[in-house]
Amino acid sequence: MNPAAIDRRSFLGQGVAAGAALTLLPSAASSLHAEPAADKRVRVGVIGCGSVSNVYLPALSKCPHAELVSACDIIPERAERQAGKFNIPNRFPHIDKMLAGASFDLLVDLTDMQEHERLNKQAVEAGKHVWSEKPIANSLAAGQAILELAKVKGVRIWGAPTVVNSPQFAFMARTLAAGALGRVAAAHADYGHTGPDWSSFFYEKGGGSMPDLGVYNLTTLTGLLGPARGVVAMTSVVTQSRLIRGKGKIRVEAEDNAMVLLDHGNGVLSHVQCGFNYFNPHGHEGSQEQRHTVTIAGTAGSMALVGYDWEPQGVDLATEQRPAYVRHATDRGNYVWQQGACLAAECLATGKEMLITPEHALHVLEVICAARQSQETARRVQLRSTFKWPVVS
Ligand SMILES: NC(=O)c1ccc[n+]([C@@H]2O[C@H](COP(=O)([O-])OP(=O)(O)OC[C@H]3O[C@@H](n4cnc5c(N)ncnc54)[C@H](O)[C@@H]3O)[C@@H](O)[C@H]2O)c1
Repeated sequence: MNPAAIDRRSFLGQGVAAGAALTLLPSAASSLHAEPAADKRVRVGVIGCGSVSNVYLPALSKCPHAELVSACDIIPERAERQAGKFNIPNRFPHIDKMLAGASFDLLVDLTDMQEHERLNKQAVEAGKHVWSEKPIANSLAAGQAILELAKVKGVRIWGAPTVVNSPQFAFMARTLAAGALGRVAAAHADYGHTGPDWSSFFYEKGGGSMPDLGVYNLTTLTGLLGPARGVVAMTSVVTQSRLIRGKGKIRVEAEDNAMVLLDHGNGVLSHVQCGFNYFNPHGHEGSQEQRHTVTIAGTAGSMALVGYDWEPQGVDLATEQRPAYVRHATDRGNYVWQQGACLAAECLATGKEMLITPEHALHVLEVICAARQSQETARRVQLRSTFKWPVVS
């Protein structure tokens, strides 16, 4: 099958279900190619050998700062298959066995969203650094406790997504900081597709389109406009039941449709829209998306991200001086959305700090939890967490 002809959602799902030979999408083939600043390689254990591991493992295999040591999955044949494919010497069916087995430094957690909190905590307790897929935990309090524990243990923890690392994010942040839009007033971002069909956790309690999809836009907008102070949201379930491969029909418990309003202070308001019921005429392969998915309006300018924030194509900017859109930042450089674990390994090996911080991931997690609370109570919810901002200086 021509990978360019299928969308990202189908591609990722198929890789797991069929155990098909891995054919990378063009963007997934690249990673960080720079030579390591130090000779040291960080030993990596990957837990969760499902769909997203098909994109993480090629990136980690090419990462000059990482050495793949162990693969683990509660479905042991998945760990076996990925270990075989990516020359990983050790494979385990349970985290306890993995932690007791071959020594490693960094746990890369690619398991079900609801499992991250428990597994991340266990790894930190065992003295491992952690790169976690989103969300980093199930609640702000639990995530903050894990971060505190990490500090006590002298290890690091980070969480996806990586959107603040793109050159397009940097361009937008610098444009805002330069005042090119005048007084910033409002922003909108949206992201959706018709929903995964390979695992039920996306639709179970603690899942939903906000932690799976909205998390990208929430990270982008809080990263650009600053930490949010309050949230008002409405969420719903549009598709009450789903067919999951190998499992049959399940009832959908978590929201699959969300509208989240954020107050960033100083009058700046933004809106994130996400869901698992969005038909997209361009499919879901990032390079095909040319729409403005993030827009920011100010009194003297308008700025829009072309394509998804996880695979941006450029930034359109119009100002009072140049009122027609001009496209900027069309080069992604080394940025790919699946580079987070390699960036973590690079940070641990060389001391190079990331723009991605656990505090930012925890703030976005608080926004998601607040949005759920706002829907339940029909009230505005005040936020208490914050993170180092601006992200890009
Ligand atoms: N698939 C994608 O397109 C994609 C893209 C970006 C991020 N993500 C994120 O990656 C994570 C995983 O998603 P996925 O699509 O790969 O799901 P998946 O169901 O395909 O894979 C998850 C794997 O984790 C394993 N697992 C679950 N609990 C475990 C445990 N306690 N110990 C060991 N293994 C365990 C499962 O058996 C499964 O193989 C989620 O957080 C998701 O939001 C997915």
